[in-house]
Amino acid sequence: MSQSQTAVIIPAAGSGQRLGVGIPKALVEIAALTLIERAAQNLSPIAANIVIAAPPGFEENFRSIFSQAHLSAQVVVVTGGATRSQSVANALAALPVTTKYVVIHDAARAFAPTNLAELVIAQLEAGERAVVPALDVIDTIKVVDERGYVINTPDRNSLRAVQTPQGFTRDAISAAHASGADATDDAALVALLGIPVRVIPGSALARKITTLDDLTWAQELAVRQ
Ligand code: CTP
Ligand code: MG
Repeated sequence: MSQSQTAVIIPAAGSGQRLGVGIPKALVEIAALTLIERAAQNLSPIAANIVIAAPPGFEENFRSIFSQAHLSAQVVVVTGGATRSQSVANALAALPVTTKYVVIHDAARAFAPTNLAELVIAQLEAGERAVVPALDVIDTIKVVDERGYVINTPDRNSLRAVQTPQGFTRDAISAAHASGADATDDAALVALLGIPVRVIPGSALARKITTLDDLTWAQELAVRQ
C-alpha cells in the first residue's frame, strides 16, 4: 500500500469571488462542515500527510479547525499565494521527504469521493507519472477571439472537463513547479515538460463549488448523503 508514501495537497487559499459570500470559500459550511474539512476528510484515508494552503491571515483559523478534526493523516497548514499555482508551490515545499506520490485536490471540490482518489493512486502505482480525472463535455465548445468572434470549433469527442484530485509522482510535480509557472491546474504544468498525463473517468461528485448554484447542489447532496 502506498498510503504511507502519499501526500495530499489542498489549495484552499482562494477568496471565492464568484461565490461572493464574504468569507474565504474553503470556510463556507455545508451541513455543519466547512468545505476544507470535507475535502480533507474525504482524502485523508489515502494519505499519510495533508498539506493545506490557507488564505494569508487565516492560517491559525485553519489550524484550529484541524486540531479538532481527528483525521488519520497528519495535517500541516501553510500560507497560500496570490495564484492557485503559487499556493500549490508553497505546499510542495512543506512535503515530507518520504513522499513518493502527490495528490492535489481543490478544497472547492469538497465532495469528491475517496474512491476517485484511490483510482488516481492506482494509476500511479501502475507506473503513470501524472493522472487526472475528467468528464466528457456536454456543450459544444468554441474558441473565440477577443472581439467575440468564433475562431474554431474543436471536435467535442476529443474534449474533456478536467477535475481534481490529480495525482503525480513527486519528481514530476516538483519539476513542473520549479519554474514558478502559472496555470489553472497542475497537469497543465506537468504536460509542459512533455510528461504524459493519463486521463481517467471523473465523477459528478467532484464538481467544483464556484457559484451559488453549486452551493445549492452541494447542500442538497449533503442532506441526501
Ligand atoms: N486557490 C488557492 N490559491 C489561490 C487561488 C485559488 O489555493 N490564490 C484554490 C481555491 O481555494 C480552490 C482552488 O484553488 O480550492 C480552485 O480555485 P477556485 O475554485 O477558483 O476558488 P477561488 O479562487 O476561491 O474562487 P474565485 O475564483 O471565484 O475567487
Ligand atoms: Mg479562482
